[in-house]
Amino acid sequence: MDFLMHSSKQNIKQVNCMKVEGNIEKYYHYAFPMQTILVTCNDQAGKTNIITLAWHTPISRKPPLYGISIAPKRYSHALIENSKEFVINFIPYSLVEAAQFCGTHSGLSTDKLCKTGLTLAHSKTLSTPLIKEGYAHLECKLVKSVPFGDHTLFVGEVITVSADEDAFKNELLRTDQIHPLYYIGENAYTTLDRAKRKTF
Ligand SMILES: Cc1cc2nc3c(=O)[nH]c(=O)nc-3n(C[C@H](O)[C@H](O)[C@H](O)COP(=O)(O)O)c2cc1C
Repeated sequence: MDFLMHSSKQNIKQVNCMKVEGNIEKYYHYAFPMQTILVTCNDQAGKTNIITLAWHTPISRKPPLYGISIAPKRYSHALIENSKEFVINFIPYSLVEAAQFCGTHSGLSTDKLCKTGLTLAHSKTLSTPLIKEGYAHLECKLVKSVPFGDHTLFVGEVITVSADEDAFKNELLRTDQIHPLYYIGENAYTTLDRAKRKTF
C-alpha cells in the first residue's frame, strides 16, 4: 500500500520508442497464440456437429462459467441456441488437420464427424457427446447468450469436467505428455512442445 501511494505521486518518466502501428481490423491477432478447441453441439434430431473455436475463455469460478464466442452465420450458432448445451473439447496438436477441417467446413452441408474420423463418446451429464481424442472436456449448459458486434457470447455453466488420466498431475497440465493445439492466425498453428515452465 505504501508502495502504491508513493509511486502514484511519482512523476513517471516516459520514453520515446518506435512501435509499428498495426491493422485494427485484425486486432485479435495480437492475442494469438490462442488455444484451439473443438466444440460439439447437437441438432434437434440428436446429430452432432463440431466447430473449431479460438475465441473462448473461463468467466467465473463460482458458479463455474465458460464463454465461447460464435458468429451468428455459423451453423453451430443455431444448434447451441436450440439445444442450450455444448461440450468444450481441449485437443492435442496431433488433431491439427481435424481442427482445420472443422473450422473451414459447415455442418450444414458436411458431416464433419465422418470426414475427420473423430470418435464421439457419451458425456456424463448432457445429450451432447464429447470427442474421445480430446484430452479434457467441459460439459456446459447454456445460461446466457449475449450478442456483441458480429459474434454472440454463449455463456455455459460447467456441469461436469473430465480428462484423460495422464493429462494432468496435481491439476497441472502435463506438457511432457500433452501438446495442446494453438492457433496463431492465417491458417497457422503451433503447440507448447518443450515449453519452458516455472513453478512458484
Ligand atoms: C483455428 C480456427 C479458429 C476459429 N475460431 C472461431 C471462433 O472463435 N468463433 C467463430 O465463430 N468461428 C471460428 N472459426 C470459424 C468456424 O470454425 C468455421 O466457420 C466453421 O466452419 C463453422 O462451422 P459450422 O457452420 O458447422 O458451425 C475458427 C476457425 C478456425 C480454423
